[in-house]
Amino acid sequence: MKSTEILIVEHKLILRAISHLLTARERLEKDERPPADFFVMAIDFFQNFADAYHHFKEEYLMFGILARKKKGELDREIGMLRYEHDRCRNYIVEMKKTLAGYDDNDEIATVTLLENLAPYISLLKRHIYKEDYIFFQMVNDVLSEEEDQRLVERFNNEVEKMQDVDFMEQNVELVRKMTLIVKK
Ligand SMILES: [Fe+2]
Ligand SMILES: [Fe+2]
Repeated sequence: MKSTEILIVEHKLILRAISHLLTARERLEKDERPPADFFVMAIDFFQNFADAYHHFKEEYLMFGILARKKKGELDREIGMLRYEHDRCRNYIVEMKKTLAGYDDNDEIATVTLLENLAPYISLLKRHIYKEDYIFFQMVNDVLSEEEDQRLVERFNNEVEKMQDVDFMEQNVELVRKMTLIVKK
């Protein structure tokens, strides 16, 4: 598999989790309350899988190789994607702060949760769309087969660093649990 194909597979799981966030958001908009556990699971997934694992591979491994190869030509595109990763991390941190209050039925915590949830969904969906349909096409053109294989090896080293043998499977399972709980 090419490096971009690996990242696209991960996007599919992230998009599935986003669709559950969308359901949760629609329920909140109707003044229903998805269980607090749903948001605990979702924040766990987005912090560990989307940020620490997936965005790390893009930012520290892929973008680094591209920046070196194109000597500044891609700074604008890479800078925007990094900025969006940063904004996403920020929304998750803000949502995490509301969890205890949300669990206690605190109305301010609920509003703050929704206030961060809505732009998070939008931003991350657009970000993934841009990567899948524009940025990764460009990456495929820029990297030689050999460079791409080196990048895939570095991705695999990251996988080995995650202590759990099957980090991907563990997160697929987490998203499956989110499916079951979001409609309760
Ligand atoms: Fe990204
Ligand atoms: Fe991505």
